[in-house]
Amino acid sequence: MEAQRILMVSPEVAPFKKVGGLADVVGALAKSLLARGHDVRILMPCYAGLVGFEGAEPLDDPLIVRLGGHEAYGRVWQQTLPGTAVPVYFIEHNQYFGAPGVYSGPSGIDADNGKRFAFLSRAAIDFCYQTDWIPDVVHCHDWPCGLIPVYLNTTEAEASMGRVATVFTIHNLQHHGWFHRSLLDFAGLPEWVFRSDGLESMGELNMLKGGLYHSTKITTVSPRYAAEVQTPEGGHGLNPLLHFRASDLIGVLNGVDTDEWDPQTDPVLPEPFSAEDLTGKAAAKAALQRAYGLEERPDVPLFTVVSRLAHQKGLDLLAGIVDRLLADMVVQIAVLGTGEPALESVFHELSARHPGRFGSYIGFDNERAHLTIAGGDCFVMPSRFEPCGLGQMYAMIYGSVPVVRATGGLIDTVVPYDERGSTGTGFVFEHPTEDALYYTIGWACATYYDRHEAFRQLQLNGMRGHYTWDVSAEKYEAVYGWARGARSAAF
Ligand code: ADP
Ligand code: GLC
Repeated sequence: MEAQRILMVSPEVAPFKKVGGLADVVGALAKSLLARGHDVRILMPCYAGLVGFEGAEPLDDPLIVRLGGHEAYGRVWQQTLPGTAVPVYFIEHNQYFGAPGVYSGPSGIDADNGKRFAFLSRAAIDFCYQTDWIPDVVHCHDWPCGLIPVYLNTTEAEASMGRVATVFTIHNLQHHGWFHRSLLDFAGLPEWVFRSDGLESMGELNMLKGGLYHSTKITTVSPRYAAEVQTPEGGHGLNPLLHFRASDLIGVLNGVDTDEWDPQTDPVLPEPFSAEDLTGKAAAKAALQRAYGLEERPDVPLFTVVSRLAHQKGLDLLAGIVDRLLADMVVQIAVLGTGEPALESVFHELSARHPGRFGSYIGFDNERAHLTIAGGDCFVMPSRFEPCGLGQMYAMIYGSVPVVRATGGLIDTVVPYDERGSTGTGFVFEHPTEDALYYTIGWACATYYDRHEAFRQLQLNGMRGHYTWDVSAEKYEAVYGWARGARSAAF
């Protein structure tokens, strides 16, 4: 396929700034696209305290960002994505991005996110003009980029950026970006876009909705999620719109960056291991038990969690059964996460109540995440919904058998264990209830203790799966081509 010019815009990009899987995906996808010969560039905010920002260089000219009735100035810093030649452009603006928070800015007021991400969206467009690099496609990630397709269809309609196709990827439909309609004035967008088939939703401005209406093509991060978002249960109120746009919507499964996540090369592990030789996994388990103050017992099944502590993830279900699990079964549990304060404190209390058997670490720690995923026997994701999920794929690569709920990308990546032939890669349950999770962990536990060969086979099936980005990057190429075709047909 001919080389395409692709601008990725995202609020998070690993390793510079990461809240969740979105950051991993943008970096890894860009890397794969570059390897396939495309001219791919990434643009993101220059938050305070970016990881690995030291080598960045400022561009000579300030970026003039043309908002409604005024201009804002940003400085652009440039660096490459570590280990690659993908250029990353960081947009600096102290008022908007001068603090470390991604979804809460320097003022700490959520309403400011409207201005922060309107600025980012406009900056992405003005950056293209100013550097005289007009992409073939702008790839927008989640609600903070929602205004980009709206600008291209309105203020830019007669300009060169107006011909550029947009692909909007939904990583999580739950977060919309709701703001007062006065944001239109600030952004410099015409009043007419504030309508129910546009940016308006229940009298407010909904950035995600605007992006989904105005983008050329839409993707979700798994095929199953593409179907779920069109239902009332999975649509977060936007299901009618996504149903309406179904012929422009496709699910492309996320992959894994195996330069980052590979038990044979992972520097965080005490010893490397692989499907051919699992001995090093025992050392990872012992290190993990020490890191969480658990009894150092190789024989006890260890269930781990690495997650945002959000309602989506269903970890309240786990919290609700820990006492029962530890009373009924000989198991250990280790939780790494941060998020809702109530859940953080429940996990904290559980660690105090069950020393040596339940351990938690409240915080964001990438190295600990690697160890926690690698050293466990099973990895628990009882998500209420899951657009794709990366944790379960990382777990399978490291021989940790996932225990997941049958939803979204979890269904598309974890093959349910079938006892008759020891086929499958994980333990899957249907209903988001404490009992369903309790009995499924019990099933995993029974398999661990009573059917060693079957458990080992599950581990190996997962480790031998194919999770790399090659296939997905090829699908994105096709989506870009599809979007370009549709965009040029419109002129
Ligand atoms: P989501 O994007 O919804 O949070 P994913 O499974 O797609 O879920 O991605 C989560 C990513 O964030 C994974 O790379 C996981 O390892 C990482 N992660 C989540 N919580 C933490 C934490 N407390 N410390 C370090 N990494 C974390
Ligand atoms: C979102 C989703 C998660 C997905 C990630 C990367 O945060 O919650 O399921 O894996 O984005 O696409």
